[in-house]
Amino acid sequence: MEKIVIDGGSRLNGSVGISGMKNSALPIIFASILVEDDCVIDNVPRVSDVFNALEILRSMGAKAEFCDLHTVCINTKNIGSQLGAKDLVCKMRASSYLMGALLSRFGKVEIPMPGGCNFGARPLDLHFKGFEKMGAVCEENQGFIRIVSKKKLNCNKITLDKISVGATINMVLALAGSKGTSVIENCAMEPHVDDLICFLNNCGADIKRIGTSVICKGDNRLKGTRYRIYPDMIEALTYLTFAGICKGQVHINGVVLQHLENEIRIFKKMGFDICADNDNLKIIAKDISGTSVVTAPYPGFPTDLHPQFAALLCFSNGGGTIKDIVFPTRFAYVNELLKMGAKIKQKENTVIIERSELFGAGLDATDLRAGAALIAAALGAQGKSEINNVNYIVRGYESIVDKIAAIGGKIKLVKGE
Ligand code: EPZ
Repeated sequence: MEKIVIDGGSRLNGSVGISGMKNSALPIIFASILVEDDCVIDNVPRVSDVFNALEILRSMGAKAEFCDLHTVCINTKNIGSQLGAKDLVCKMRASSYLMGALLSRFGKVEIPMPGGCNFGARPLDLHFKGFEKMGAVCEENQGFIRIVSKKKLNCNKITLDKISVGATINMVLALAGSKGTSVIENCAMEPHVDDLICFLNNCGADIKRIGTSVICKGDNRLKGTRYRIYPDMIEALTYLTFAGICKGQVHINGVVLQHLENEIRIFKKMGFDICADNDNLKIIAKDISGTSVVTAPYPGFPTDLHPQFAALLCFSNGGGTIKDIVFPTRFAYVNELLKMGAKIKQKENTVIIERSELFGAGLDATDLRAGAALIAAALGAQGKSEINNVNYIVRGYESIVDKIAAIGGKIKLVKGE
């Protein structure tokens, strides 16, 4: 098995380019099921979840491939409703978007329970409740989901009981091509939801966001388009934590500043020197002080930055706390940081962290962002670390080893025995 080997303690100096947002690319790739025409999507990251999504579409009879380094060309004109690559569907949470897209196009969908990062329960009840409100019948048994709708999906209003990125995305996919006007209330406001809405509107849909409501005006035949997705805000914030731990001067290029406003404010309060010009950040991180944060749906502190931020707090004066109210059980990374000597303890959905002297260790990535947290901690630790389960990390971070090495990190990917 491959592993990432890091010799900690190097300062980082140089420029890193941010890739396209994985959590935008995946819903947009599956949204192409609604468009029986050529779709060209630019700024797509070369990460395993994207390769899997393209393979799933090809298994249904679509043309779906990288036609340039970061450009994906898709045509789903000839797809059937049957899935081929069921094993890939089980590998990622984003496969759940097949429900909204296939239900909208074929009026039925049968998929295995989607997989995804394993940090506790990942229910789909909000998705099913929304589909049932539109007139579909949802069944789930023995690990399979079957949803059927005898008539065209539509519904005047759906109010999601809880803010959910995935449920919001699935409601938009199901209603984008529906009849009449539907209002979805209590929607997630993450930039990747807006990315999907912009893509669908470029295809001819009529979808507007007003606050936390999304209004879908159906009756539109969707046509092909070319669309460029947003840069990855979580990747950019992850490199900010790397810079804060390793010190030095790092340029993070190709971001959307507006997506990072809340977090940049927090990092500046911690002592980061961050100056922004257009879509580039220059980071000089000297001695940083700790802080406390509580995760929340966008524009709140992202749960997807929680593990990496915990690693950062280990290197901060005074440490701090992180309370995760979005995913109250995504703490598997704590045991790995403890192996490095971190002064970290978990109390229910909160971690309390003191400034710690970390030492390199043999570590296991337990999910995508936990893996990024171990890289962050290892870059700042004394001595050598080896990180296993690299597959978790490469599913969401394009060329992370090369990008870190290019700015001075002593990191390499070692092929397993
Ligand atoms: C998406 O997951 C992201 N995944 C996650 O990123 C991210 O952590 C999460 O949104 C929150 O931002 C993708 O975009 C592929 P949710 P999702 O539905 O849609 C509960 C990463 O690191 N809930 O917003 O599954 C749920 O348990 C990944 O890139 C229900 O109760 O998250 C959670 O407590 C990890 N019932 C809360 O809502 C449901 O039917 C928010 O989850 C659905 C969700």
